[in-house]
Amino acid sequence: MIHAISLAGGKATGYRNRWVRTRALAAKVDTTPPRGPSEPVDGPANTHVIRHAGTTLALVESGFPHALSPTLDRARVHDFDGGLSSSMTAHPKVDPETGDLVFFGYDVFGPPFLRFHVVDAAGHLVRTEDIDIPRATMIHDFGVTSTRAVFLDLPIVFDLDLAAAGHSIPFRWMPEAGARVGVMPRTGGNSDIRWISMDPSYVFHVLNAYDDGGSVIMDVVRYDKAFDTGPGEAITSSNPVLARWTVDLVANRVSEQRLDDTPVEFPRIDDAVAGQPHRYGYCARLGDIAHDPTFLGLVKYDLQRDESTRFEPGEHRSPGEPVFVRAGDGRAEDEGWVLSLVYDATRDASDLVILDATSFGGPAVATVHLPARVPFGFHGSWVPTDS
Ligand SMILES: [Fe+2]
Repeated sequence: MIHAISLAGGKATGYRNRWVRTRALAAKVDTTPPRGPSEPVDGPANTHVIRHAGTTLALVESGFPHALSPTLDRARVHDFDGGLSSSMTAHPKVDPETGDLVFFGYDVFGPPFLRFHVVDAAGHLVRTEDIDIPRATMIHDFGVTSTRAVFLDLPIVFDLDLAAAGHSIPFRWMPEAGARVGVMPRTGGNSDIRWISMDPSYVFHVLNAYDDGGSVIMDVVRYDKAFDTGPGEAITSSNPVLARWTVDLVANRVSEQRLDDTPVEFPRIDDAVAGQPHRYGYCARLGDIAHDPTFLGLVKYDLQRDESTRFEPGEHRSPGEPVFVRAGDGRAEDEGWVLSLVYDATRDASDLVILDATSFGGPAVATVHLPARVPFGFHGSWVPTDS
């Protein structure tokens, strides 16, 4: 379900929600399927929503994007004019200098298990590179610098037996498969990738990555392990924390620096510095994963000063992903707002909370009381109406 809140002239001017009428949903409720091509696997389009080249796309890593009409009422399966032959990640990156949409997709049923793609600023798929990896692993996100792509081949491995048994997420933790990052020049291909082994861990989300001479700096939310608890159970028994990976392409080594001990997820930056050095990061703060795996608040990291500031949403209130909205050009990196949907259990409805990112601890600049609960979800985007 996509939720859209409109803001204009200092007021909240609208709220709507609509199911993305995917092929699987249409079959279930006996209605017209989406227009457009067939997907290799029918995806739920439930992970992220972005706008690129004027098109709103609902994304999930197991399927094709669904292009949504402006009112969100209609969906069309979108394969970039036949360019996609396997699914697309829900975490593409937009290069702020070129406007390119840079992404990958992974396939579990046969090689190539990984593909790299570039869609230009006009929405045309202009490059696809098949990438060799030895087995099908779950790859939720990746790093993109201004010159390189960084692939994560981490040991959550597709398990055909679990798939055959009908598990909706048929993957398992297999540390013996090893962990590697692959660094590829964005203009290169499979033969140009440098694969570097590292100790097993798992990363769903990358905060940002950037070039630092012969190294790539990549800040990630890192788990000791995931999908280690058995099918149908919580997906991990380890707390996710912010860490900095320095991928040294001269020494062929990845070193890790733990940046904080606070459990966090859903890391976001100012997208204007995507692929370039960033100073700030924004995350949702979790309770301890074993006892209280819920979102309790938000954190702003100042990675230059090694400081963090918390926003506490109040009792019985649980936030979602913090989305940064820049205030304009020619400004400090944190001049802007952070938007988060906060569920208020007392009201059994959600608020859109708007923080001034430069005074992150609050109070909120504005709170929009929505007439309904927005169920906990994953990711979203701020979309200026002129885009
Ligand atoms: Fe995600």
